[in-house]
Amino acid sequence: MYVLGIETSCDETAAAVVADGRKLLSSVVASQVDIHALYGGVVPEIASRAHTEAIYGVVENALEKASVKLSEIGAIAITYAPGLIGALLTGLSFAKGLSYTTGIPLVPVHHIRGHVAANYLVHPDLAPPFIALVVSGGHTSLLKVNDYTEYVSIGQTRDDAAGEAFDKAARVLGLPYPGGVAMDKLAAKGNKKAVKFTVSSVDDAEYDFSFSGLKTAVINYVHNELSRGREMDEAFKADVAASYTDVLIRTITSRMRLLMERDASVPIVLAGGVAANSHLRNAVSELADSYGVKLYLPPLSLCGDNAAMIAAQGYYEYKAGLKAPLSLNAYATRAV
Ligand code: KG4
Ligand code: ZN
Repeated sequence: MYVLGIETSCDETAAAVVADGRKLLSSVVASQVDIHALYGGVVPEIASRAHTEAIYGVVENALEKASVKLSEIGAIAITYAPGLIGALLTGLSFAKGLSYTTGIPLVPVHHIRGHVAANYLVHPDLAPPFIALVVSGGHTSLLKVNDYTEYVSIGQTRDDAAGEAFDKAARVLGLPYPGGVAMDKLAAKGNKKAVKFTVSSVDDAEYDFSFSGLKTAVINYVHNELSRGREMDEAFKADVAASYTDVLIRTITSRMRLLMERDASVPIVLAGGVAANSHLRNAVSELADSYGVKLYLPPLSLCGDNAAMIAAQGYYEYKAGLKAPLSLNAYATRAV
């Protein structure tokens, strides 16, 4: 069955066609990053307006690239939560209109489930149960995926997401928005022991994360050093990037190590924009190897927001009997 996926939860307008939840036929992503970079972050109203302009062309393009006609589509999978509300509503309203006029069923997809499902498109042997770690600009969630549509939350961030923490440090170091990729490259050139940052923990919730303290720590460190006359040169920036990346990774891997110590029989799946980070990929690979745990990593092309992941998850939601009424609403926050 062909599923048309549509994703507009943040700053990418995306559409894709996937066959049977596993085979990627097309994936079109129109990024708004250049527009938001002018403001140093995503401006919600601008995002909604840019989605409105782009969505029709992106959907047409995805169908064309897949060589699939709209009449051959079996379900329309749409991200309904979580995300920027105006941005979500733009894609949702478009998908509803398409469903209403064609009679093709509408299937609601949770964005975080979508990120996990990106892995189904490249790992034919991957099937639940597994543990998933979703690290992106908006989310940091440790999940037990018991079945394709049965998710249990194990841990999550209490404040900022890992991607937000990367972006904040990047901003302080004067790197362009979004800073994840630049931080990745810069960190490779620095000494990770140069600055001492401590791994944070959350009382009574050993699998939860907290990144806001680290964000403050890096801002204070850079400002203090500069006020003491330190130059913001490449070597300084690289050392801060390396040390900060290292503590963020140790924060993440400490929770994963705990899980693996308790049960090394369940595979681990990484997902989300930050899963593109080369240092995180290496650290998690080493950790999984040391416990003999099977690890699945998404390709870089499917780490960030896209609609192929929404179509992949939509297929499994549809098979489980999920179909949305045309009164479906969008939600800025929603449990996975
Ligand atoms: O999954 P995504 O595209 O959007 C959300 O659902 O939030 O994630 C975007 C986030 C941004 O914060 C970006 O800086 C971060 O992923 N990111 C990275 C890397 N590539 C993207 N962070 C660290 N290292 C990277 N290589
Ligand atoms: Zn995302």
